[in-house]
Amino acid sequence: MPKIRVALVGVGNCASALVQGLQYYGKNEKQDESIGLRNLYLGGFHPRDIQIVAAFDVDSRKIGKDLSGAILAQPNNTPKLVNVPQTSVIVHKGPVMDGVGEYTKKIVQITSLPEVNVAKTLKETEAEIVLNLLPSGAAKASQWYAEQALIAGCAFVNATPNFIASNATWAKRFGEAELPLAGDDLIDQVGATTLHKTLLRLLSMHGVRITETYQLDVGGGTESLDTLERTREVKRAVKTKSVEAALPYKAEVVAGSTDYVDFLENKRDSYFWIRGVHFCNVPMQIDLKLSTIDAPNAGSVLLDVIRAVKIALNRELKGAIVPICAYAFKHPPQLVSLEVAERVFADFLIEKSVS
Ligand SMILES: NC(=O)c1ccc[n+]([C@@H]2O[C@H](COP(=O)([O-])OP(=O)(O)OC[C@H]3O[C@@H](n4cnc5c(N)ncnc54)[C@H](O)[C@@H]3O)[C@@H](O)[C@H]2O)c1
Repeated sequence: MPKIRVALVGVGNCASALVQGLQYYGKNEKQDESIGLRNLYLGGFHPRDIQIVAAFDVDSRKIGKDLSGAILAQPNNTPKLVNVPQTSVIVHKGPVMDGVGEYTKKIVQITSLPEVNVAKTLKETEAEIVLNLLPSGAAKASQWYAEQALIAGCAFVNATPNFIASNATWAKRFGEAELPLAGDDLIDQVGATTLHKTLLRLLSMHGVRITETYQLDVGGGTESLDTLERTREVKRAVKTKSVEAALPYKAEVVAGSTDYVDFLENKRDSYFWIRGVHFCNVPMQIDLKLSTIDAPNAGSVLLDVIRAVKIALNRELKGAIVPICAYAFKHPPQLVSLEVAERVFADFLIEKSVS
């Protein structure tokens, strides 16, 4: 298999889990040995077919370092899962723009080293897919990197909650450039939003009338701090809309990140509260807590997205690729139910549908 050549924008916790996951699953041959990975093969591609060819960040503890070391450098605090040998990918400096917010500037140490020409680096490294893993508040920088992907002729995957794939203008521009685009805001493997939606769906299928529900998170990664300052409202709107779509009727729904607790490191606790009535209007209530580690929670989905975008490249699909967006992102161009998202993605893999 020819390699899938990926450039990472942001070498934070998510990038760390992804790079470690490539090493962790690289030698596996059987699906049943590959615990924690949804698809060992996807469209014929194995995780070992993915090669990181370039990486960009702004932190002095990462810039100029080999990717294998940069993923473990502070302030990253997701666990070390496996030894990653030298990659020969050196992390380059990109423009800071709005990548570092008021809260995170106490944590991120911006290097004084010069920026590289990002589009030129993408071309020189023959990157095919640019994976945007910037902090969620980096709206301008996310758009700037999307622009660099267009200049360099790369597909773009937006894991952040900034609206790019779901923005008609960006989707059109990628369409005109004959390049695939996927986003926005990646769905986790054990996603609080997915779990919340599934619970609500199950309860409503069984005749329960949900009246009120909330889902609140506490995390300790840099991303949680950034969210607290800059994207709490956007994330809340994205998650609330997505959760509301799981119910066939209107209910009071609040879903969204809330707070930062530094000693949790990259752990995340999600609290769910559901109230409703069942038979003869009798009340019921659910109170649940989900504990995960944030970045590894993105790994399996990212591996699927990268391989699916490669399939889109091979098929010369362009613009926002609806089945990939629906399957792997909380804010796709068109919001559909979990069942429909699964079906359209399965159809996409066997070429029953196009974007
Ligand atoms: N499970 C998950 O972790 C998950 C799920 C869904 C979405 N996401 C999204 O993925 C993104 C990354 O999450 P994370 O936990 O890795 O964040 P992080 O804060 O750990 O990493 C962000 C990285 O970007 C770097 N950066 C900041 N400004 C930059 C710039 N201008 N150019 C290049 N690099 C820059 C930072 O130095 C840092 O290394 C976030 O937007 C988050 O919302 C993550």
